[in-house]
Amino acid sequence: MSATLPEIARITIRKCQGIDEFNACVALQKEVWKFDDLDIIPLRMFVVSEKIGGQIIGAFDGETLAGFAFSIPGSRNGHCYLHSHMLAVREPFRNYGLGRRLKLAQREDAISRDFELLEWTFDPLEIKNAYLNLVRLGAIARRYSVNHYGLSSSPLQGGLPTDRLVAEWWLKSKRVTDLLDRGSSPRFAAEQKISVPAQIYEWKSSDASRGRAAEIQKRNRQKFLDAFRSGLAALGYERDPEGNGSFLLGRWDENWSYASGEDGQ
Ligand SMILES: CC(C)(COP(=O)(O)OP(=O)(O)OC[C@H]1O[C@@H](n2cnc3c(N)ncnc32)[C@H](O)[C@@H]1OP(=O)(O)O)[C@@H](O)C(=O)NCCC(=O)NCCS
Repeated sequence: MSATLPEIARITIRKCQGIDEFNACVALQKEVWKFDDLDIIPLRMFVVSEKIGGQIIGAFDGETLAGFAFSIPGSRNGHCYLHSHMLAVREPFRNYGLGRRLKLAQREDAISRDFELLEWTFDPLEIKNAYLNLVRLGAIARRYSVNHYGLSSSPLQGGLPTDRLVAEWWLKSKRVTDLLDRGSSPRFAAEQKISVPAQIYEWKSSDASRGRAAEIQKRNRQKFLDAFRSGLAALGYERDPEGNGSFLLGRWDENWSYASGEDGQ
C-alpha cells in the first residue's frame, strides 16, 4: 500500500548515525534488492564508509527508515569524487520524490566538502531510473560497462548480465545548476535515440520471455558502445504515453572530464 501525502510530508532527510541506523540500511537493502547474503553490502562497510568520507543519508519517517543513499569516496586521475553505490526507497514511499531528495542531499553534502563529481552506475534497461538520473537530476552518461558486477542474485536483474551505464553528476556544471536552480532543462541537439520498451520489466521477470529482454539488452549495448566511441553522451530521456523510454544522445558542450579512466570505465 502506498504511503499517504501526510506521511510523505513528515519525512526528513538527514545523515544516518550509529550502528542501529546503519543496520536499518542493511535491512532495507535486503528488502529492496532481495539479494543473496553474499551480494549484500554488510554493516561493516557502512561503518567504514562513514569513517572515510563516504555518505550514508537516510529518509526518515520518525524513527523508521523509508530510504537511503550510500556512497564511498573514490579517486581518479588525481581528483577525488564520490561514488554512490546504492539508492533505495521502500516501495510504499516511491514516486513521491524521495529518491530525488536523497540525491539532492548527497549533492549538498558533496559540495560542502568540495567534491565536484558524484558518480553511480545504473541499469540502462530501468526506464524509471534513467529518467530520474538524466532528466530530474541532470546527470549524463558516456561510459558503458558490460556485465559490470558479473551475475547478480537480485530478481530486479532478471538473470541478465549486469550491464551498467555510468552516471556522472557534475555538481557545479551549468547543466546541473540551471536545472536545479532555475528548473530549465538542458538544451541539446539529439543525434541518436536508444529505446527501451515498457514491457521490459515484464519480460525480465519470467523465464518464458527473458530472451526478449536479453535481445534488447544486447542490441542497446552495441548502440551505446558505438555511440560513446563516436563522442556522443546520453543527455536526455523521453517517455511516451505507453511508458516506453528513449535515451537521447548528443554532444555535451561542457568540459568536465576527469571522470574517464584509461579503460574508459
Ligand atoms: C530508484 C528509486 C530509488 C527511486 O525512488 P523514488 O522515491 O521513487 O524516486 P522519485 O519519486 O524521486 O523519482 C522517480 C521519478 O520517476 C518517475 N517514474 C515513476 N515510474 C516511472 C516509470 N515506469 N518510467 C519512468 N519514470 C517513472 C516518477 O514519476 C518520478 O518523476 P517525477 O519526479 O517527475 O514525478 C526507487 O524506485 C527504488 O528504490 N528502486 C529500486 C532500487 C533501485 O533501482 N535503485 C537505483 C539504482 S542503484
